[in-house]
Amino acid sequence: MSLEITVGDSVPDQAVLLGIPVFEGEDFGSRVELLRPPDRVDTSYIEKLGFTAKLNETLVLTMANRIYLLVGLGAREDFSLDTLRRGGAVFGRSLHRISDAALVLPRELAELNGDEEQSSSHPSWQALVQTLSEGMLLAAYSFTSFKSHPEPEMVQRIKVVLEDSVSAEPGLSKARLMATATCRARDWVNEPAASMTPVRFADIAVQVAQEAGLSIEVWDEKRIEEEGLGGLLGVASGSARPPRLIKLVYDPKTDHKTEGAVNTVALVGKGITFDSGGLSLKSQEGMATMKTDMAGAAAVLAAMSVLAELGIQLKVVGILPVTENMPSGTALKPGDVLKMRSGKTVEVLNTDAEGRLILADALALAAEEDPTAIIDLATLTGACVVALGPLVAGLMGNTDWLCERLETAAERAGEPLWRLPLPRQYKSHLLSDIADLKNIGKPGGQAGALVAGLFLEEFIDGKPWAHLDIAGPARSSEVEGVMPKGATGFGARTLLELLSTWSNPEVS
Ligand code: BES
Ligand code: ZN
Ligand code: ZN
Repeated sequence: MSLEITVGDSVPDQAVLLGIPVFEGEDFGSRVELLRPPDRVDTSYIEKLGFTAKLNETLVLTMANRIYLLVGLGAREDFSLDTLRRGGAVFGRSLHRISDAALVLPRELAELNGDEEQSSSHPSWQALVQTLSEGMLLAAYSFTSFKSHPEPEMVQRIKVVLEDSVSAEPGLSKARLMATATCRARDWVNEPAASMTPVRFADIAVQVAQEAGLSIEVWDEKRIEEEGLGGLLGVASGSARPPRLIKLVYDPKTDHKTEGAVNTVALVGKGITFDSGGLSLKSQEGMATMKTDMAGAAAVLAAMSVLAELGIQLKVVGILPVTENMPSGTALKPGDVLKMRSGKTVEVLNTDAEGRLILADALALAAEEDPTAIIDLATLTGACVVALGPLVAGLMGNTDWLCERLETAAERAGEPLWRLPLPRQYKSHLLSDIADLKNIGKPGGQAGALVAGLFLEEFIDGKPWAHLDIAGPARSSEVEGVMPKGATGFGARTLLELLSTWSNPEVS
């Protein structure tokens, strides 16, 4: 499906379907009649049909030559921009094969309170159109590359009708970039590991860099060894396919002379193109979805692909360690000791805790850039999925201002995350008998997500750093909100929201 959204101040004649957002428990009939006085009909039957305008509920009414689709937004007092994003997704999915539709954004939405994002607490038309359009664009996604008989491609046109369409236009442009980035990440993650190899992912990164005005360096296995990336090399040693280390740089070349400080943000993404567990082999069930284990790298590359178009005024460095994790005669063995980029040694007691080994090297490289902040995204632990479930990412970090900014950005992006602690007391869980650290904590996986976070913290050289464990929301087993089944592209929009509202941190 390719979706063309426009904004305007009247309903076009060719729009055979008209969406009308409505709140729970309000008079829906009068809303319809207001829009189309000549069609005045008895709509008192709406409630008899059981439609109450809860979020995710829709009702189709046909009158004269037009179809009306009432889109439930839930209770008025619970309204937020994310409600509208979800409403947009529900609307988009209800259109099926209708090629021309419109949706009316009533003025009262711009007058509602209860939106955390706006300082004035009223959402702007721009913000309303952005989130609504994001919802529609994100819901229109499908991955059909491997279908013998995909649904024929069709163009769908949706006009968002509102009073102040001129001021809303930038919201639409931003929505397009947010959705483009998210859907790029989804495509890369959905592609099977047989074709999405480390070399292939690096080739994609080169192409993205060219198109998006980024500079790029790709290290092959020889360079990876020369540079002392023992973690990445160790994990890759069981695989027939060579690893890659990708470094991307976005530099807007403006003089960031604000108080003399040049802000550089380093983004690190876990890029395991397939996680079999290695010799500590996963179960059949645990392995089935492990092509998703490069979702962190995909989210970072996808976000970086639109930085220039979004006009981001920061230097952004992306570091992506990419490899398979496979068992073989040359594979890493439990008990092996690796020497990492930072010089620390790690005893590998479980080869399935591989993400932290490749991230350790990538984080050390990121720290060498002397960035203002480092953020990593990784499908790191099953323990985080147990703690927070499939929809919420875990956030850990050593710097409150950074974590708080990420919380705000995630809220805006509609990507839920929850802060988890990094308890100093658990550092001892990572002590090895023979090396500086081991790669797993206590038996039974106690505080597994936190111990993984504490392990990463050993490699950031004291820089401001935050870690997003996206093991749960990187993939969805059902359609939920703006998420499709399969890869979700989680994290790209949070990064973009964060970077587009970045200002110099007040660090003492
Ligand atoms: N890639 C997995 C984590 C994962 C699990 C992601 C489920 C998505 C869904 C990671 O490499 C892993 O296997 N972690 C181990 C760590 C353990 C051995 C300490 C885990 O969580 O079981
Ligand atoms: Zn693993
Ligand atoms: Zn993994």
